[in-house]
Amino acid sequence: MFCMECYHLSGLLWDAITEMDEHNRPIHTFQVCNVMEPNQNNWLRSNWISRQAAQKVYVELRFTLRDCNSIPWVSGTCKETFNLFYHETDEAHGVKFRPAQYTKIDTIAADESFTQMDLGDRILKLNTEVREVGPINRKGFYLAFQDIGACIALVSVRVYYKKCPFTLRNLASFPDTVPRVDSSSLVEVRGACVDHAEERDTPKLFCGADGDWLVPLGRCVCSVGYEEIDACRPGFYKAYAGNIKCSKCPPHSFSYGDASAICRCEKGFFRAEKDPPTMACTRPPSPPRNLIFNLNDTCLLLEWSPPSDTGGRRDLTYNVQCKRCGPEPDHCQLCEDELRFLPGPLGLTNATVTVMDFSAHANYTFEIESLNGVSDMSSRRNPATSQPQQSPSLVGTLKKDWASPNSIALSWQQPEQTTLPIIDYEVKYYEKVLKYSVYDSKAPSVIVSGLKPATWYVFSVRTRTAAGYSSYSPKYEYETTGDCKYLRPSTVLISSNMASDQGQVLVIVTAAVGGFTLLVILTLFLLITGSEYFTTYVDPDTYEDPTQAVHEFTKEIDPSRIRIERVIGAGEFGEVCSGRLRTPGKKEIAVAIKTLKGGYVERQRRDFLREASIMGQFDHPNIIRLEGVVTKSRPVMIVVEYMENGSLDSFLRQHDGHFTVIQLVGMLRGIASGMKYLSDMGYVHRDLAARNILVNSNLVCKVSDFGLSRVLEDDPEAAYTTTGGKIPIRWTAPEAISYRKFSSASDAWSYGIVMWEVMSYGERPYWEMSNQDVILSIEEGYRLPAPMGCPVALHQLMLHCWQKERNHRPKFTDIVSFLDKLIRNPSTVLKNFFLPESPGEEMDYPMFISVGDWLDSIKMSQYKSNFMAAGYNTLDSVARMSIEDVRRIGVELIGHQRRIISSIQTLHLQLLHEHEKGFHV
Ligand code: ADE
Repeated sequence: MFCMECYHLSGLLWDAITEMDEHNRPIHTFQVCNVMEPNQNNWLRSNWISRQAAQKVYVELRFTLRDCNSIPWVSGTCKETFNLFYHETDEAHGVKFRPAQYTKIDTIAADESFTQMDLGDRILKLNTEVREVGPINRKGFYLAFQDIGACIALVSVRVYYKKCPFTLRNLASFPDTVPRVDSSSLVEVRGACVDHAEERDTPKLFCGADGDWLVPLGRCVCSVGYEEIDACRPGFYKAYAGNIKCSKCPPHSFSYGDASAICRCEKGFFRAEKDPPTMACTRPPSPPRNLIFNLNDTCLLLEWSPPSDTGGRRDLTYNVQCKRCGPEPDHCQLCEDELRFLPGPLGLTNATVTVMDFSAHANYTFEIESLNGVSDMSSRRNPATSQPQQSPSLVGTLKKDWASPNSIALSWQQPEQTTLPIIDYEVKYYEKVLKYSVYDSKAPSVIVSGLKPATWYVFSVRTRTAAGYSSYSPKYEYETTGDCKYLRPSTVLISSNMASDQGQVLVIVTAAVGGFTLLVILTLFLLITGSEYFTTYVDPDTYEDPTQAVHEFTKEIDPSRIRIERVIGAGEFGEVCSGRLRTPGKKEIAVAIKTLKGGYVERQRRDFLREASIMGQFDHPNIIRLEGVVTKSRPVMIVVEYMENGSLDSFLRQHDGHFTVIQLVGMLRGIASGMKYLSDMGYVHRDLAARNILVNSNLVCKVSDFGLSRVLEDDPEAAYTTTGGKIPIRWTAPEAISYRKFSSASDAWSYGIVMWEVMSYGERPYWEMSNQDVILSIEEGYRLPAPMGCPVALHQLMLHCWQKERNHRPKFTDIVSFLDKLIRNPSTVLKNFFLPESPGEEMDYPMFISVGDWLDSIKMSQYKSNFMAAGYNTLDSVARMSIEDVRRIGVELIGHQRRIISSIQTLHLQLLHEHEKGFHV
């Protein structure tokens, strides 16, 4: 309560009275009750109130007013209202009270909503009234209360203004902000980045009239060396600004203090100028090994093995140094300039060099030095010793045990071991015209699969012992047998049996070489199935009169044949209902009815019917069927077949974990088949997503929501891009987001996302990441990891759909064939992908060669050192890890634990389980 001054202009004064409430606490009130006398004019004035930053203030009054009927003999003089006034002024003191200067705010009457207040033996109704005052332009104001003959007790006066309070949003701080007086306009406030954060897009908030912050725009991101909550701890770093976490220092580097932008290399390790801060520190390589020479007429061929330690880098090169020495061994001079080296003496990338143009009767010594990108930074030099080493024994001639068009089994005699035991053999093979591959084998035999038919290959083997590698065995050349089905597909028809045999071979190949082979499988099936559809889709917009397209592609239904039963949803144009459709001579069927709500303009009617003109051109079991339209009476309607289970995304969320992998694949197969039909017709959907797939009572999935740009208007997921288009970012291929290149290949990308939605039972793609972050992460190469329990074969197909280069994505026809194969023969496919061929055999992981690669692929690279330090350095050991193990090795964030475990399960457990279950649909 403000201090109040009382003014008696005529009649009696307001009295300051202290009473006790029901809890015996004092209540200070101002009271007046001159109800017997006519013409009352009693004033009560507050002291000066500073308006502070406000332009508009609120005055909350709590008071009691006696009902005149409750006081006898007062009719005519008793009043039940009083008046509230204010006067603006800059002067806080010495202002005389002159009622004429005051502006009336309102007449205050007792409200109906009241609480009872017990003032002694009187029960009175406590009223609360709030009035707005303003705009106020002077520094402050007085309030005044005019009594004109009522019985009032003023219990409290609260004066306040509203503000949007200081807040932190998107790492920017926004100060206390007072809203505008005009309640319809917002105050735009620019945020300041918090310490150790920097602006990405100018952070802004808008302060609304009621003191609420609205529409956050832009953001700040953590500076280098900082993550959201804190500075990076010692041992961690953050090299780039952005809302990403600090990462553990890469191998062979460290950070002592907080907030490191980069980790420093351990002693003896270095970073080359162009190495990114995320890369491990590396060191110069160890010397080359097993230097051997071959003298042939005037040519000297020097060959050596790569160093056992490349220093952790791939930019390995060799320099050759030549010394010509006289009879005295210390009388040597450099001789590179005198000789000819092929390809040259320096910067060699292959471990061989030919030397020519020797002088007669001279004594030459050659030193081979291995170098890499950090050799210059170290004093460590490493010429290969010219001393002959105790090299491991050479493997003899290779023998072919058996071969197929795609594989070969080779064996060799185990060399007589003299000193050190053989660790393993390295089998090198290459297509005579292509780059080579290397296999490690513990036994003196190997099966190399994934070979191309009718292609020349060269194989050789070398032994490894603790002393290093032996030289390679003599080369063994072999041409795989021809496969005319593969080579000349257009001229050969394959029966389904043959195709399935072929498929088995290819599947084994897939297990060995991963993604590439998938393409082969898909290509093969493309050739088998061929094209079945010849009609092409006609865009209704090409009709000058769109009603013409409606006539051409849809059937008019007499509304008397339709019975609407229930409203099942809301579309952009009106309600969606379920009902029944009668057709003479046919069984009544369940239908969904989309209605166009009244009051539409011609453009809306045209857009509404556009979808029917498109749908009416399609006839496929996996495309929602149009029954007809009602255009000649109101409401205008589109009638389609009824899909009992509604949209696929919510259906899956409601049935989380209920289906077998093969049931899910069956759904995906249906969608792919519908999409194949659409792409064969030349129709690009642009909004393929689980929410736009409908499911019937037999779990048949059908593609719905047609209408090109219109569908995007209707889709709550569609967001405006910087170029102004409205696009469902998470489902859309990068080229369609960036430059609106929509095609069946961009639909294939969306199909991959639908696969992910299905296999994760309706999880939101990219979870809670913002659209902007999704775009950035895709650009940086991130792809969604396999959902929990998703077979690798399916995840590989997803990854195939998410190739950046759109021509590399599979065609829908390939996808259908691949999924058919999976459904027809699940055990074969899954067995070859995930399970050891026989007990005790190593598992075959098609995509990843090391734990590091696997962690990279699921974007968990920061935990590489945790896995290594805890001894999990093979995928086999990782596949046996439990969530406790993952926690124990230091993966603290629950999201990361989940991602890792879900990927581990993908690698192993779930698949084993699925295999045992036998895949019943
Ligand atoms: N919601 C929208 N279209 C539908 C359909 N055809 N069946 C069931 N629910 C739907």
